[in-house]
Amino acid sequence: MSKKNILLLCGGSGTEHEVSLVSAKFVEKNLREIGLYNVIVVEIGAPKTNDKTFRILNADGSHGETVEINSKRQLIGKAVIADLNYVVPCIHGPPGETGEIQTYLELISLPYFGCGPEASLVCFNKVTSKLWFNAIDIPNTPFEFLTSIEDAPKAHKLFDEHGKVFVKAASQGSSVGCYPISKKSELDNALKNAFTFSEYVLVEKMVTARELEISTYEFEGKVHASVPGEINCPSAFYSYEEKYNPNSKTTTEIVAPGLSAEVVSNMRGFAIKAFKALKLRHQSRIDFFYTDDGKIYLNEINTFPGATPISMFPKMMENNGHSYLKFISDIIAKDIL
Ligand SMILES: Nc1ncnc2c1ncn2[C@@H]1O[C@H](COP(=O)(O)OP(=O)(O)O)[C@@H](O)[C@H]1O
Ligand SMILES: [Mg+2]
Repeated sequence: MSKKNILLLCGGSGTEHEVSLVSAKFVEKNLREIGLYNVIVVEIGAPKTNDKTFRILNADGSHGETVEINSKRQLIGKAVIADLNYVVPCIHGPPGETGEIQTYLELISLPYFGCGPEASLVCFNKVTSKLWFNAIDIPNTPFEFLTSIEDAPKAHKLFDEHGKVFVKAASQGSSVGCYPISKKSELDNALKNAFTFSEYVLVEKMVTARELEISTYEFEGKVHASVPGEINCPSAFYSYEEKYNPNSKTTTEIVAPGLSAEVVSNMRGFAIKAFKALKLRHQSRIDFFYTDDGKIYLNEINTFPGATPISMFPKMMENNGHSYLKFISDIIAKDIL
């Protein structure tokens, strides 16, 4: 019998296009190691362009033909390349973490790895995620959200209350459209800039905090949360440069040191609660702030966490006693056509 076909999608139209290609290498290696499947890699778009073309990505990094997925679940180039049995949308940011691809896969009944369209979109939008966190009683930083620049007085009021704020475009990742503001004179400009990235803008209290992350995932029918890992960023703002520049001074720890058992247990509890309530599926990395005055705030949920050599998600899972290979192979075996 011929092997079943898995389509590994990577790239995407966001700022994390290249990061996604690196994550996809890791995922591809695991998919090949399972040994049961034929893996076809397709890159969507190109870095820093609006191009959304799907192209075969060869092992040497060169591109093959332009392709599309038709409603009969076939990968089509000049001719039919494969009947698809499963898709892994390994994309950080649009159109993967925004749920667009998943919506199409639902439409054509092609099973896929990771969160569904609605959970993806809710988590990608920093405003809707905070509305959810409040609704399900998960602590998060005090905030206001602005539907247009006319709402600027709300931001000024929040600034007056807290002294320092963070202005964030609602639907962006990689710290793009994110502005730490400690002088009121800079606030209006930051709001204007943030509105060039998104239709909605979030303004939240700036906290002084440790940045902790938890791998949250399904394994053998149960939702697991790892102990928190830590991002040590020397500047207070974990910016795009700090995240992806090879000279970044940021370091990570798979197990955040010195946390009390109570803090760890509360944080894991919030991660599992969010995973279940927001109907996350298979995997998510849930990011927290642990403030200098001892408060835990959920900052954001990444529905397709990075899996690059410096990414914490797979490492925190392994450290939690679960093999990434078994994790992904069990999930695929359950749903593949
Ligand atoms: N309320 C806040 N107080 C202090 N620092 C913040 C706050 N919000 C964000 N940051 C800093 O900005 C970084 C990026 O913000 P985040 O909401 O995680 O957006 P992204 O989706 O771009 O990762 C965080 O990792 C943190 O360093
Ligand atoms: Mg973040």
